[in-house]
Amino acid sequence: MSKRNVLTGITTTGRPHLGNYVGAIKPAIEASHKDDVQSFYFLADYHALIKCRDPQVVNQSTLEIAATWMALGLDTDEAIFYRQSDIPEISELTWLLTCVTAKGLMNRAHAYKAAVQENIDAGEDADFGIAMGLFSYPILMAADILMFNSHDVPVGRDQIQHLEMARDIAQRFNHIFGEHFVLPEAVVDADVSLLPGRDGRKMSKSYNNTIPLWLPEKQLRKSIMKIVTNSLEPGEPKQTEGSALFAIYSAFANAEQRQEMKQAFADGIAWGAAKQQCFELINAEISSARQAYEALIAEPSKVELCLQKGAVRAREVAAPLMQQLRQAVGIRPLG
Ligand code: TRP
Repeated sequence: MSKRNVLTGITTTGRPHLGNYVGAIKPAIEASHKDDVQSFYFLADYHALIKCRDPQVVNQSTLEIAATWMALGLDTDEAIFYRQSDIPEISELTWLLTCVTAKGLMNRAHAYKAAVQENIDAGEDADFGIAMGLFSYPILMAADILMFNSHDVPVGRDQIQHLEMARDIAQRFNHIFGEHFVLPEAVVDADVSLLPGRDGRKMSKSYNNTIPLWLPEKQLRKSIMKIVTNSLEPGEPKQTEGSALFAIYSAFANAEQRQEMKQAFADGIAWGAAKQQCFELINAEISSARQAYEALIAEPSKVELCLQKGAVRAREVAAPLMQQLRQAVGIRPLG
């Protein structure tokens, strides 16, 4: 049976929150158990450098994110789990791709365009403060993807353009140097609804409305108690639609629990009681993983060893392809 390669990267900045867990980590771990899939999950620490110049944050965040995936049960014998910077072939490929990528293509990248627009709005020079890392970010991401002949790349909606660019770049390389790359496809899961944050907008670091995944129990409860509701009193019927609390509860509930909560809303459950139930449900799902997480954070060398093993497996795939590509472009022994 030929397997499909499924690959995704996680930028190592910031702390994982419930939105990351529900929207990305949990579905990815589930997908990795499928027989017809070889999954590649990696920590995009080179991508982190684009946004973050604090070495301690980059390092700590890599540890926390790796420990998160391990604690939540990623089978690292099955999935190939590695750190981008441990695979020198990725940087090498980035340059080969850079040499065939049209600058005009990069000019159209949303992230770059947004940064330019911000400058213009502020009356600055268009490229003020914009580093080449931000500008050519989509090429590094294309290298991540093409290096492992990825068929499917699960990503958020905001990354679709980057996948289109990866395909463009792959086609261009294939056209010039022969068929070397599989054309990857973005997989955007329509079922995985975006988890709202405490204020009802999408849960995101940039809105400062997240519920961090690994808060100690008491603080997790506190954070859930801060989910914004309205002033309806106990006994007054409440709407589930548009309720951040209901949406967050639902993301962790089975069909029956969801139905019960819906009924409780209609019957006028007190907000405090509904939040307590939400806390208990979430805590039950993650509390044993929290212990595993804390144990890993206390022993970073275990995480390091796991990543080193992952890097060996990843390079078994990357090195032969890189060898083939070097040949193809004419970088090979003389004579
Ligand atoms: N840019 C992605 C993000 O911010 C992370 C990422 C880096 C990625 N390389 C990737 C995702 C390759 C998928 C495939 O979410």
